[in-house]
Amino acid sequence: VLELRVEAEAVAPSNIAIVKYWGKRNTELNLPLNSSLSVSLDSLWVRSKVIFDEGFERDVVTINGNKLSDGEVKDYAGKVLDIFRNFYGRRIYARVESSTNFPSSAGLASSAAGIAALVIASNEALGLNLSKRELSKIARIGSGSACRSLFGGFVKWNKGELENGEDSFCEEIFTPDHWPNLVDVIGIFKEERKKVSSRSGMQSTTLSSSLLKCRLEFVERTFGEVIDSIRTRNAKLFFELTMRHSNSMHAVILDSWPPLNYLNDRSFRVMEWVAEFGRAGYTFDAGPNPHIFTLEEDVKEVTEFLESEGAVKVIISKIGKGPYIIS
Ligand code: PMV
Repeated sequence: VLELRVEAEAVAPSNIAIVKYWGKRNTELNLPLNSSLSVSLDSLWVRSKVIFDEGFERDVVTINGNKLSDGEVKDYAGKVLDIFRNFYGRRIYARVESSTNFPSSAGLASSAAGIAALVIASNEALGLNLSKRELSKIARIGSGSACRSLFGGFVKWNKGELENGEDSFCEEIFTPDHWPNLVDVIGIFKEERKKVSSRSGMQSTTLSSSLLKCRLEFVERTFGEVIDSIRTRNAKLFFELTMRHSNSMHAVILDSWPPLNYLNDRSFRVMEWVAEFGRAGYTFDAGPNPHIFTLEEDVKEVTEFLESEGAVKVIISKIGKGPYIIS
């Protein structure tokens, strides 16, 4: 009997949220409580190769050569692979080899980019020809923020209303070249302590924060303004809203119980410096590495500041294009 074997390889960008995703209305399908908006990053990408083979007995995933545990596979890539197996109608396992062009443990959304690359590669390998919109829904089930890495430029993830998640997908709202002199300056610092995963952190916020309702109102009220600031390339307004949306997410995180916090002393120094500087805007994900948006002419000053704070590395990124197939 001839066993089927197909493979494909794809690259996908990391993304950083301006309007943050924090809190779910459905944890199985990763349906969010609010819509979010991100930019895809030019300098941070993940390359994933997938091989489906009827001879394989289970899914195996490696990231930069390190094999993930079966539990880690089940929680992320496995969810995506299960959906593809369903579409394909055959029980066919996969080997996935991912590599990042940045330290995968630095909290730079490597899982989002990795899942996005896996989704693009699987669609290609199995010849399914699903649309980007459909693929973003599959990526969302692997890891919420991954659905935004299916596109380049400025990406909106519509939270949707339906129970089954069919209207919770992403779309590109401005192209990668819409704002050419906008730059994300990312400071990489040595991790000081182990972080609580965003998956369990946002669940604890959803269950315990009484400020969450206010944040959802804030997001609802200012979403249009964020989009307008991008449309008109209003840097001052964009920076201000970027900082306020980061602060708003970290406020509900701090309001969670048991105690939760992703920022440290240095994060607060960065926040103070950037606000004072006036020509940049910071944002933090579920980790202490600052992303500082600024315009090209101010990149040097921002970089020097991060170095003076002890950054082990500063990554400078423009707005990038979406994922693509490489073989
Ligand atoms: O889908 P996850 O578990 O990667 O959630 C990511 C949440 C944040 O990165 C903190 C915010 C966001 O919108 O990306």
